[in-house]
Amino acid sequence: MLRKIRRLLLLLGRPNQIRMAINYLFMLEQQEQQGTVWGSISEEEEQALIELTRKASALPGPIIEIGALFGFTTQLLATYKPVEKKLIAVECFAWNPFGIPPRDHRTITRRVLRYNMVHCNTTLFDGFNRDFYKTYQGDRPAMVFIDADHTYEGVQEDITWAIRTGIPIIAGHDYCEFWPGIQQAVDEAFSGEITVKGSLWWHCSPELRDALPRCA
Ligand SMILES: C[S@@+](CC[C@H](N)C(=O)[O-])C[C@H]1O[C@@H](n2cnc3c(N)ncnc32)[C@H](O)[C@@H]1O
Repeated sequence: MLRKIRRLLLLLGRPNQIRMAINYLFMLEQQEQQGTVWGSISEEEEQALIELTRKASALPGPIIEIGALFGFTTQLLATYKPVEKKLIAVECFAWNPFGIPPRDHRTITRRVLRYNMVHCNTTLFDGFNRDFYKTYQGDRPAMVFIDADHTYEGVQEDITWAIRTGIPIIAGHDYCEFWPGIQQAVDEAFSGEITVKGSLWWHCSPELRDALPRCA
């Protein structure tokens, strides 16, 4: 018993380990309930995102992912877009589910994405979403996939930029009870005009809905 108390006290003196343990349990619960894969999307959500990627590929402008983590969904987007279509993944290396230090997280993601960056017109913007928004000067993107800061304010910032920029397909992840801030920001922005598959949500501009009815 004394040994257990000692261990508990040791743990309490290590807030990082406690944070990681909580994070670990949270990831397991989300995986059990939704099939998400350690911060990345589920297989059902992959199918929906593949469809959206194909639609975005028929439109001008790049595809943007906000929050790339290890680059798994970036790979998916790269796989289902034409090689020449530009893909930009924005990642600040602030979070990962394993507590890997930012420097190593960056190395892993860059290595995962190496093929895409060399051969598939994919770039990694290494920085915060808001710095990307401030400096972006390219064409109007065809689609943005929002999956970075999961707070209400964070998602609101992403959606505000996407609407202001006139992006025809605005999508994101984790529209679910685990992330009430995401649900609130999405609901306020689109007043229910979204489609949800798993916890993947998307909104298509009205003009696009007329042109591609299955975009809904
Ligand atoms: C849930 S993960 C993204 C998962 C990824 N989209 C996938 O499906 O594999 C969230 C990522 O967003 C990044 N992130 C969080 N806040 C950010 C911000 N303000 N700007 C850029 N990236 C951010 C985190 O470092 C983390 O890697």
